[in-house]
Amino acid sequence: MQESSTRIIYDFQSFFYDATFGKLVRRRIAKAVSHINVRPTDRVLDLGIGTGMALDFYPRHGRIIGVDLSRGMLRQCRKKIEQRGLVHATVLQADALHLPFADDCFDYVFISHVISVVSDPCRLITEAQRVAKPGARLVVVNHFQSTNRFIAMVEKFVCPLCTKLGWRSDLALADLIRRTGVEVDYRFKLESLDLFETVVITNNKSATSAARPALDAAALPSGQAAAVHEVAA
Ligand SMILES: C[S@@+](CC[C@H](N)C(=O)[O-])C[C@H]1O[C@@H](n2cnc3c(N)ncnc32)[C@H](O)[C@@H]1O
Repeated sequence: MQESSTRIIYDFQSFFYDATFGKLVRRRIAKAVSHINVRPTDRVLDLGIGTGMALDFYPRHGRIIGVDLSRGMLRQCRKKIEQRGLVHATVLQADALHLPFADDCFDYVFISHVISVVSDPCRLITEAQRVAKPGARLVVVNHFQSTNRFIAMVEKFVCPLCTKLGWRSDLALADLIRRTGVEVDYRFKLESLDLFETVVITNNKSATSAARPALDAAALPSGQAAAVHEVAA
């Protein structure tokens, strides 16, 4: 996926997103947001906020800042903010791979159905870790490539079609963990057969530029993924 085509795809999808994909993901987003325990002084960054599906589930305190590439998605999101009187929420058009924020300013980063949309998922994690405070919580909701070899093959096969719809189906979580060095606290699915997963990460700053050379040199063993704890939703 390239950001220029992503913007066009989601500008178009913004007209029917809530009535289609949005309906399918609503319950999953609600569950994932319940793992964000916002205190009144907290700042939450919603990366690729889209039409603002998560807005209904954040508490009405703290600061919610949403960014998205697509003007169309942001238009729908701003409508929700206005109609619901969500004065604690602000959105702006920005590229999540080059965030216009200083280091260490967010307590939570929510990344829902975005990591397999961007051209560089590792860069997205790097940016999320950079702008999040040390020890902040990153909550990632996404489809990750199956660990079942047959299903993974199917996911690779259908990937070109998925790309036309605005996301890729072959992003492997173990690979992302290995390449960014993130520490996964726990992960869960809404139902055992759910194709999507929520991954909860504590910001150890592993993927930021200062830590990156050490990470590359260490070439984390792929078995690191085994350290991940799975918990029931
Ligand atoms: C599948 S939608 C998910 C929207 C929302 N997070 C949700 O779960 O309903 C993906 C969103 O990510 C946005 N997006 C994709 N690449 C982006 C980037 N590099 N920076 C900011 N937003 C991006 C798209 O415009 C789109 O709104």
